[in-house]
Amino acid sequence: MISVRTLCKRHGDRSVLENVSAEVTRGETIAIVGPSGGGKSTLLRCLNYLESFDAGSVTIAGFELRPGMGARDAAKLRAMRSRVGMVFQQFNLFPHLSALDNITLAPRVVKGSASGKAETRALELLHKVGLRDRANAYPHELSGGQQQRVAIARALAQEPDVLLFDEPTSALDPEMRDDVMEVIRDLAKGGMTMLVVTHEMQFAHDIASRVWVIDKGTIAEDGPPSQVVDDPQTTVAREFFARLRSARRD
Ligand SMILES: Nc1ncnc2c1ncn2[C@@H]1O[C@H](COP(=O)(O)OP(=O)(O)OP(=O)(O)O)[C@@H](O)[C@H]1O
Ligand SMILES: [Mg+2]
Repeated sequence: MISVRTLCKRHGDRSVLENVSAEVTRGETIAIVGPSGGGKSTLLRCLNYLESFDAGSVTIAGFELRPGMGARDAAKLRAMRSRVGMVFQQFNLFPHLSALDNITLAPRVVKGSASGKAETRALELLHKVGLRDRANAYPHELSGGQQQRVAIARALAQEPDVLLFDEPTSALDPEMRDDVMEVIRDLAKGGMTMLVVTHEMQFAHDIASRVWVIDKGTIAEDGPPSQVVDDPQTTVAREFFARLRSARRD
């Protein structure tokens, strides 16, 4: 489903991703963890070309991405992004649209779905994320956790092959995180292919098929949670998990 080959990304003279190679098969959930500034968000953003890269290539949901894609490739990038959904830390809902309209916008405009059909599907998705009764609420009338669940429903409305999450629960109060994590957990059970940048280690442990520890622009460790989280082999992973555990105890 995703193949990353020797991906390199620079910002000026700083190398942010260095020869990253990885494969993700359909139905996997990858938890991405690691120290701040390591390149987690950058990698995710390169995967749907919100950021371009300098060398290497990415195949995702049947699309081939390479350096230097631009205006000529706009149609292809649009088609790719309708197969590859992204959910951000800060929800990014349209403030002037109701929950329902946030969800139906892309299917109506991008895919040309009839509005009745888009609406029926949106209501099903709102039900799935536990918000069927809030269809007409505007983002400012919803809690952070509810807004994030609308954002997930919006991503699902495109019927993506892959979902990318960048710290989906980091902006939320602890008591709101569980509902969002529950939705992601259900998606994992349902076989959605997902990459989730997260600091919630228990969550990563429970839902991930693999954990990637990203540090200094490389995947320092890659394996099942039972290996990477419980018995890390690299110093960076050992120190990272030890810091997380001691932060939790504070
Ligand atoms: N627009 C930019 N210009 C210059 N450097 C950038 C830019 N965006 C990111 N970087 C640098 O790239 C590196 C990786 O950043 P990235 O946001 O991918 O890290 P991260 O692993 O997601 O960190 P965090 O856990 O704090 O979110 C950092 O050193 C950052 O300073
Ligand atoms: Mg980040």
